[in-house]
Amino acid sequence: MEYTIAPLTRHTGAEVRGIDLNDGVLAETRATLNRAFAEHHVLVVRDQRFTPPQFIAAAQVFGELFQHDKREMHVPGYPQIYYVSNEQTVPGKRYISGETFHTDHSNHPAPPKATMLFPVSLPSHGGDTQYVNMHEAYDDLSAATKERIDGLKAVHVYLSKYSPRELRPLSEDSARQVPPPGVHPLVRTHPENGRKALYLNPVRIRGDPRHGGRGSARPRCRADGARDPEKIRIPPPMALRRLCDLGQPQRHPQG
Ligand SMILES: [Fe+2]
Repeated sequence: MEYTIAPLTRHTGAEVRGIDLNDGVLAETRATLNRAFAEHHVLVVRDQRFTPPQFIAAAQVFGELFQHDKREMHVPGYPQIYYVSNEQTVPGKRYISGETFHTDHSNHPAPPKATMLFPVSLPSHGGDTQYVNMHEAYDDLSAATKERIDGLKAVHVYLSKYSPRELRPLSEDSARQVPPPGVHPLVRTHPENGRKALYLNPVRIRGDPRHGGRGSARPRCRADGARDPEKIRIPPPMALRRLCDLGQPQRHPQG
């Protein structure tokens, strides 16, 4: 069967239809999907059904698997799969995992290139996942800001004191898995599409390695999807937006 890949917005996201990732993905299709991912940054592959082993196999269409640090959140029997739930609590309140903008596992020396999500149970409304195009965020910076941040690095720790949200405490077993802080360029060049992108994580960035990993290079990064005209909804709920604010007022891009 022919499959299609159609852009979701002018700059971010594409929708794939007519493909079953459980069907044995040919090398040519695999290459096409990976090229589309590098070009569009978010792929929504419609009409999939996975058991845990099938989900693991489907993820390998895009690369090798990365084991999540939080062992207590692994799908039982499948340490390669982490589950996200809105039914967790921290003392006194509900805990929404991943509630603010972030990029996964940036505290690792070699973070994964992508995260793959499969909705198992969705609320009747809400529950969006929002994405920010960090190539666009970089491109929109002023020349002076680009020059100022060129060559800067940031220290990423598991939980920065600057984080806009708390993370649930790690179990002892999980805490032992946390690696030494990752040190990453603030501006990275994508190895496949060749474009520069900001590499930020407000949850994890602690500071500038030139200053003992603290303070002065902490970027400000704000996001408010509710006011963004580019926010779109894709059933099942998943929304796209772009950011950002690196020492500048937040802007509202016009598409
Ligand atoms: Fe995440």
